[in-house]
Amino acid sequence: MKKFLNLGSQPLANSYLTANNLNKSEKKFKLEVGFDKKNYLVSILNTVPKEKMFNKDYPYKSSESHTMRNSFKIFSKKIKRKFKPETILEIGSNDGAFIKNFNKKKVIGVEPCKNLANITKKLGFKIFSEYWNISLARKIASKNKIDLIYSANTLSHIKDISEIFKAIKICLNDKGVLILEDPSLLECIKKVAYDQFYCEHIYVFSTIALQKILNQFDLIIFDIENTRTHGGSNRYFIKKKNNESYKISNQVKKNIILEKKGGLDKFSTYKKFAKKVEKSKNQLKQIFNQLKRKNKKIIGYGATAKSCTVLNYCKINSNDIKFFYDTTSYKINKYLPGSKIKIKRYKKLSRSDADYVFLGAWNFKDEIFKKEKNFLKRGGKFITHIPQPKII
Ligand code: TYD
Repeated sequence: MKKFLNLGSQPLANSYLTANNLNKSEKKFKLEVGFDKKNYLVSILNTVPKEKMFNKDYPYKSSESHTMRNSFKIFSKKIKRKFKPETILEIGSNDGAFIKNFNKKKVIGVEPCKNLANITKKLGFKIFSEYWNISLARKIASKNKIDLIYSANTLSHIKDISEIFKAIKICLNDKGVLILEDPSLLECIKKVAYDQFYCEHIYVFSTIALQKILNQFDLIIFDIENTRTHGGSNRYFIKKKNNESYKISNQVKKNIILEKKGGLDKFSTYKKFAKKVEKSKNQLKQIFNQLKRKNKKIIGYGATAKSCTVLNYCKINSNDIKFFYDTTSYKINKYLPGSKIKIKRYKKLSRSDADYVFLGAWNFKDEIFKKEKNFLKRGGKFITHIPQPKII
């Protein structure tokens, strides 16, 4: 693994501070990103123990976003139509945004964050509140082999890739389908979205990397959909190699060609990316400094984990952004880690709130701009760093 990017010393992205611990020193770790020439894998170099990140205080809830709820709803209809699974397993079921679309008797969730697992348990779903591993897979497989395993934005959080896929193979029926959905490395590189890297995102996958890894476990990608969630994701459809039920679609070849054209198999691409990241930091700082000189009022929108990387890397703090609005109840009246910017309960933006709004949740830009069209109409502006720092 060869390092190409240094995003500085960072706090844990989802460890929001309370007023009581605001002045205590925060745990920090070195956020560096590297590329492995052998399997094309891009990953952060220093990882944080999973128990420190995924526990009973996990703040992120998929169901709180209209975009995510809708995306899961549409996709689950497609799954039923296309694969007709009798048994479904979701790894990282969060607060149930995906599994709620299925019959309780057919679906099993795995969710180690107990606060989230309890939400779906209370609704009567079968949930294992454990980390995904081989012993859990054996426990599940002893009762049911699974026709369809789905995991969105979760496998990139698990360090031991080999354990992930060994466990999946234990549970998956020979004719079964595995569907993985994660941010696309190609989109991340194209958009200079360096904030896809934070403590929880150990990996940002590409097709070429995933293909190499899956090959070691006799698994193969047979189709890919490029989706718009989380700033551009890939949805990989995977089967056991000896399963003849699905032909390899042209989409697989197309994605591989695009990724190679984008240089994802070459270290030099990542070095270039690192240069762009540094430029992005300088430009974003410049925008903030100019607006501050003009005494403009700036707030933030969407206190995301991604924002944590940006704010701490660019050294933007409460002198620059007065506060953040966020819809997640857990985050309200807390403070963003590192930058210590206060988070307030979301209310529709009005011009008296701010002149400029930093778009922390840039991946929901369309949803947010639609919601805030009056603010925009009245001359309110947004600041974004994607794909390059600018005012909209
Ligand atoms: P998200 O970008 O999904 O994740 P991450 O934390 O992994 O980077 O988080 C979206 C955050 O933005 C979440 O805290 C909710 C907030 N949000 C709003 O406050 N308003 C909105 O309209 C939307 C779409 C999100």
